[in-house]
Amino acid sequence: MRIVVLGANGGTGRRLVRQALDAGHDVRAVTRQPGSFPVRGPGLEVVAADVTVDVPVGGADVVLSTLGVPFTRRPVLLYSRSTANVLAAMRRAGVRRLVVVSSSATEPHHHAEGGFLLNRVIQPLVTATIGKSTYDDMRVMEKLVRDSSLDWTIVRPSGLFDSDSVTPYRLSENRSDGIFTSRADLAACLLAQATDTTWVGRTVAVTTAQGTPTLLAMLRREAFGK
Ligand SMILES: NC(=O)c1ccc[n+]([C@@H]2O[C@H](COP(=O)([O-])OP(=O)(O)OC[C@H]3O[C@@H](n4cnc5c(N)ncnc54)[C@H](OP(=O)(O)O)[C@@H]3O)[C@@H](O)[C@H]2O)c1
Repeated sequence: MRIVVLGANGGTGRRLVRQALDAGHDVRAVTRQPGSFPVRGPGLEVVAADVTVDVPVGGADVVLSTLGVPFTRRPVLLYSRSTANVLAAMRRAGVRRLVVVSSSATEPHHHAEGGFLLNRVIQPLVTATIGKSTYDDMRVMEKLVRDSSLDWTIVRPSGLFDSDSVTPYRLSENRSDGIFTSRADLAACLLAQATDTTWVGRTVAVTTAQGTPTLLAMLRREAFGK
């Protein structure tokens, strides 16, 4: 298949491009910083673009978006602006299949595996403070995607952590009990959507059960880069 990966130079995006090439797909990796893009291989095209300006999707069979920005208290517009552009570009190019990454925190809920700390402290705190502008904009993105006439899937991971090993990740509609998702599993889940129609027109939560970090270790790394 011809796959366009948006956010290709991010933690999930790099893994997604690698997995897609290894599976024999042709991949267009879209990044604002092609000079720092580390993945190589036959079938790879690296394209420089800022998706708030231009979304090069012509000729694609599927668009997989892992676009993201770090948490900030300032307004976040990347998810909504890029999605509006992506939808318009896909319509113009006649591309129908779109898979976007959102977050389980767009719909805060009780996670059976989260315990008191996650459910009663971290989730309420993060969604009300440092993550608020991100999740507000992700909800706008989700609505734009759902209201589109495309063959869409919204993928909601939980807390991301780095791993290159794909595990038997778990999928559930809208919400999950799990609190972690590895970037390798998220990438594998996104890639699976390229050829599987099970989740078309639906929102799927993806979580990892094997090899997960502790909650505090993940928070330190994701929130403070340590
Ligand atoms: N961290 C968590 O615990 C967590 C939990 C749930 C969901 N998520 C979501 O999961 C997704 C993947 O996360 P991640 O940490 O793997 O991603 P990431 O490393 O933050 O990568 C996101 C990529 O988006 C690209 N990007 C941003 N603005 C762009 C623009 N205007 N034009 C083109 N590219 C742009 C950047 O690439 P360039 O350098 O090429 O610009 C960046 O590498 C994100 O949407 C994130 O919000 C994260």
